[in-house]
Amino acid sequence: MEVDGRAGNTLSARAGTRNFYPGVSSPTLGFSQDYLGPTLRLVKGRTAKIAVENRTEAPITAHWHGMHLPGHLDGGPQLAFGPGETWTPELPVNHPAATLWYHSHVHGETATQVYRGLAGMILLDDPEIDVPLPRTYGEDDFPLIVQDRLFRRGVMTYDLGHMDQMAGFQGSDILVNGTLQPKLTVPAGLVRLRLLNASNARTYEFGFSDGREFHQVASDGGLLPAPQAMTGLHLSSGERAEIVADFSDRRAVRLVSADIAGGMMGGGSMGGMMGGGGMMGADTGATGTLDILSIEVSEQPARVSGALPARLPATLPDLGAPVRTRDFTLNVHSGGMMGSMLNNLVGRDGQTMGINGSSYDMSRVDFHVPLGETERWRINADMMAHPFHVHGASFLVTGMGGRAVDPQATGLKDVVHVDGLTEILVRFDKPATAEAPFMYHCHILEHEDRGMMGQFTVG
Ligand code: C2O
Ligand code: CU
Ligand code: CU
Repeated sequence: MEVDGRAGNTLSARAGTRNFYPGVSSPTLGFSQDYLGPTLRLVKGRTAKIAVENRTEAPITAHWHGMHLPGHLDGGPQLAFGPGETWTPELPVNHPAATLWYHSHVHGETATQVYRGLAGMILLDDPEIDVPLPRTYGEDDFPLIVQDRLFRRGVMTYDLGHMDQMAGFQGSDILVNGTLQPKLTVPAGLVRLRLLNASNARTYEFGFSDGREFHQVASDGGLLPAPQAMTGLHLSSGERAEIVADFSDRRAVRLVSADIAGGMMGGGSMGGMMGGGGMMGADTGATGTLDILSIEVSEQPARVSGALPARLPATLPDLGAPVRTRDFTLNVHSGGMMGSMLNNLVGRDGQTMGINGSSYDMSRVDFHVPLGETERWRINADMMAHPFHVHGASFLVTGMGGRAVDPQATGLKDVVHVDGLTEILVRFDKPATAEAPFMYHCHILEHEDRGMMGQFTVG
């Protein structure tokens, strides 16, 4: 689906069913599809007029994750609209070319709604920049929405056990673009894969089954200034990366991931906390390999082959020196630690997670940021690693737990994997009022829904 502002475009959120396993139907949600939504093609410099219809039975939103939009267009929890209603935002597209996404963002329901399928990808193109990369959609440039799901007797199931409430929900079956055991045929040469981790909680460490090198060419917010060679790419929930791989050897290969449980901090501190029961401890760290996608190479030569250019037509913004610093700690327990852990284990309801000791409150604005001023945000996490996401702007990661910034965390980001003290520089150029503030939250959707979220105004 092309959304370029010249014509009206409708995303119709509705309930449906899909046979993920042959002959077994699963209840799903989708935007104009049974499951997930169409890829939106947005063009920089135009206005995208989108009508989002709610034909489901519950309130939904459409959040344009990664776009730089004022709060009233951002689709956060305050902009929920009910069954039978239609939201018609006009989105000014003035963001660099990037791989973004959209999903529902109703507080307390985001995990369930995204799991059922209310999400899709956005490809934002900038016709003014000639990018020397594969860019023919569906031919040498592929969107890959990666999600883990749990199937019981073939039925897609969202069933939160106690540990899932703590660590976030993980399933053992992988869907790519809504398909189990996906296969992709690519031309012989350079191919661009746009990876979106749209899983509720799972972190991936992507690579190829033969260990071949590939290049990352873009992160969340757009192209990197130079391709980065790597053999493994870490992607936590909500993050995107574009990679280019060379298939000119015509060998079939699999895109795989290390099977990383729960985003636990490296040392397995949660495993230690939980004692020898093995509920967590046993799955801490990589325990095997997940197949993500089988790739076969056709006889057809690719449009682009040979070496990638050393530089890409992108520069990172100079955000200047920060005017102030803000500190955030992501709390698995917003109250006393052991008491809240009991709450987590006993009750499914109520919010026990938070940031800086408080759980999300839709009616509380946590702070105000002056428009156009650069800030340093220092983010820390207790108990486990968390993907930290900010609405309304992209940021630059300047420090990661005292280590060098991971290669895949360079470039413009809107989600960063926080595993130890993480520092970002951010500047907000779009306003947001108390009626429709910007969110900052953990992108493990079960954590977000349980209150690991806050909101702020900009102006
Ligand atoms: Cu992808 Cu606040 O969300
Ligand atoms: Cu977002
Ligand atoms: Cu979290």
